[in-house]
Amino acid sequence: MIDKNNLTGFDTVCLHGGHTTESHRAHLTPIYASSTYIYESAEQAAAIFRGEEPGYIYGRWGNPTIAEAEEKIALLEGYGLKDAQGGPLKLKAILHASGMAAISTALLGNLKAGHKIITHHSLYGGTHEIIERILPDFGIETIIVDFHDADKTADAIKADTTIRLMFIETPANPTLQCLDLQSLSALAKSLGLIVCVDNTFATPYLQQPFRWDVDYVVHSTTKFLNGHGTAIGGVLVGKDLQRMKTGITKTHRLLGGNSNAFDAFLLTNGLRTLSLRMDRHCSNAEKVAAYLNGHAAVAHVNYLGLTDHPDYATATKQMKHPGAMLSYELKGGFDAGVKFINSLKICTNAVSLGTCDTLVSHPASTTHMGVSREQRLKFGITDGLIRMSVGLENIEDLLNDLEQAMS
Ligand SMILES: Cc1ncc(COP(=O)(O)O)c(C=O)c1O
Repeated sequence: MIDKNNLTGFDTVCLHGGHTTESHRAHLTPIYASSTYIYESAEQAAAIFRGEEPGYIYGRWGNPTIAEAEEKIALLEGYGLKDAQGGPLKLKAILHASGMAAISTALLGNLKAGHKIITHHSLYGGTHEIIERILPDFGIETIIVDFHDADKTADAIKADTTIRLMFIETPANPTLQCLDLQSLSALAKSLGLIVCVDNTFATPYLQQPFRWDVDYVVHSTTKFLNGHGTAIGGVLVGKDLQRMKTGITKTHRLLGGNSNAFDAFLLTNGLRTLSLRMDRHCSNAEKVAAYLNGHAAVAHVNYLGLTDHPDYATATKQMKHPGAMLSYELKGGFDAGVKFINSLKICTNAVSLGTCDTLVSHPASTTHMGVSREQRLKFGITDGLIRMSVGLENIEDLLNDLEQAMS
């Protein structure tokens, strides 16, 4: 019998973490496609409702397939970390229908009208829109500062006592900005803020924000955690177990952004190979970045593993590896970007990221076509910018494809 308390290696946790044997002893946790659960008696129902006996109640509140994915992610985010007493850090994860649903729970579960968020530029577009367009109607405003400037960030927090939560996304689009989790978290905690980190680009294999004492981590599990592009999903992970089980669970259940058994099954299956996939994603990305960096058709490469990236030192300090995301600027501008995308024969022309195969997109002609050029350029989305999520293909095939598409 696998000893769940003795899963010492990260890869072993990926495989076995969170698995509980169900009554039919299936090797993999089945897809529990059941919206409700039955009780032996009125007394048992009451005990489960009171939380005195373990058991499931209603699909929106969770089910065994979802529970395995949640527990696996909680174990991976806390892998090797210690709590204040020196014991293993225990975390609780709540799976959601999407990354946006997890972010919504994190924000609405912690903020009230009159509170403010402090955050930075370069957030994922959906996160930016929710704080700019949805939350102000509920009395929650946001202050955006340059988190690279520690003094300005500290001054901004000190100047406004209604700031309650710091939201950090690192690394982030489009230039792979990387923010210093240690110093930002220390500053925020010293001034009494809640800290929430979007760890989607890195995954817990490359970066563990709880190492720096943050309160919450969110992911779009749609990306590297699922790894195969088969399901939209999100997760919110927290270290205050009491708060996670009460206020945050209530917000999650009542907002209704719950996951489902099929998506959770796909996620668990993806998580089982997370570390193996990430190693290959990362080694391929390193080689692609090195190749593009010296290429005559490329003006600039944004990759955290290149020493000329402004955040190279921060990434080296807090990440196990600079990751599998990069962007680069083609010298020929907009037309070169379109021609490049149309010429690809191996890489897939699609938005999103973190799938097994390489995904390439040209923001100026797709995701950002509705944004004015002036606005686009302000955020580093230049006419010839290409974004790439490097996949698991043979590196020679990838490099040959890029070469033929650029010539
Ligand atoms: C960094 C980041 N956070 C959050 C999200 C939102 O996740 P989802 O699309 O699963 O709702 C995305 C989606 O691309 C993302 O890239």
